Amino acid sequence: MSLLIPIFKLHYSDSDRAFLKNGLEKILDEAYLTNHTFVQSFEKDFGHWNSSRYSVAVSNGTAAIEAALRALNVHGKEVLIPSNTFIACATAVLNAGGTPVLCDIELDYLAIDPVQVAEKIGPNTGAVLVVHIGGLISPAVMKLKKICQDNGVPLVEDCAHAHGASYKGVKAGNIGAAGAFSFHMTKVMTTGEGGMIVTESETLHKELQSIRQFGKSESNSIMHVRDGSNFKMTEFQGLMGLLELQRVETRIKKRRQIAAIYDEKLKGSAWKTWSPAPGAVCPHYKKIIKAPVPRVKVEEFFNSKGIALTGGVYNIPVHNQDVFKNSYQAKEFKNTEAFSATHICPPCYPELEFSEAEKICDVMLEIAK
Ligand SMILES: Cc1ncc(COP(=O)(O)O)c(C=O)c1O
Repeated sequence: MSLLIPIFKLHYSDSDRAFLKNGLEKILDEAYLTNHTFVQSFEKDFGHWNSSRYSVAVSNGTAAIEAALRALNVHGKEVLIPSNTFIACATAVLNAGGTPVLCDIELDYLAIDPVQVAEKIGPNTGAVLVVHIGGLISPAVMKLKKICQDNGVPLVEDCAHAHGASYKGVKAGNIGAAGAFSFHMTKVMTTGEGGMIVTESETLHKELQSIRQFGKSESNSIMHVRDGSNFKMTEFQGLMGLLELQRVETRIKKRRQIAAIYDEKLKGSAWKTWSPAPGAVCPHYKKIIKAPVPRVKVEEFFNSKGIALTGGVYNIPVHNQDVFKNSYQAKEFKNTEAFSATHICPPCYPELEFSEAEKICDVMLEIAK
């Protein structure tokens, strides 16, 4: 039986389709299919939208983190990352030649815990990665920035969930040395696969442009001067990105309205929703909610009512992934363990009808009775 409210929907209107078809004609006319004019326009317009000085488009969000870490020379160094994150963060560190060192999270707004960062940061730390979970920017980011500054270590923001997020007027990606976005299919903005690194630093910008093209020299196109890779974005992704910039604000508005339905309808119940901190603006990539009963029970009940539960952020944290399970001790990550065991993410995407969000809340209230 297909679910009445699926895990995800994605819709392109007639005018979206006309924009894409028209762009496709231009790409075919230009017949230069990768890292060319559409990618350049997307970089420029994304940077403008995000108030970032420099933007570098890449093939996906994992590559965006890896390129940022390579540009920051983490090779042979430790990179502090939260355990409560997607595996891509650890992968990117390893691919950049660094060692991922896991830290717990704080439970207010789910950022990497500044207390553990302060304990674990040291002379061999190459970078600290903060992940804006579900699009929430934690006020802890300012403490993290200070710890990093005091130790001469760059702070990198994983903005895979945080398109359009801000804290005290500063957009995601512009708080640390660099910000890495993902445009994977379910993200707030999507190009199918894709990524973007933003930075204020001219030096980093030049490094990143070279790193995404096999470490190519700026002055000699057949000389390779750094350890790079092939992270180039295709023109088709660039075109999709330009479309997304036209509709992103409307789509974020709809996400916020859906998130507000969850907040309003679940107020005073046994379900506890996470909301943005004072001063923070959140695109609600995920609506994160603490469940009063085990997640499997919620999932079973939801499924019996034809509702899909979307993936948590995260159900299996990095230290419990099989690939890393012999490397870390769960007792070090108490908050991550508690959070991963008890939260859910009900459907929250622009294609969801308000009436569907209300129905989901009714089902949740029934479970909590
Ligand atoms: C927090 C986080 N970081 C990084 C990534 C990697 O992005 P991509 O799938 O575009 O490589 C994702 C998601 O996919 C993510 O959720």
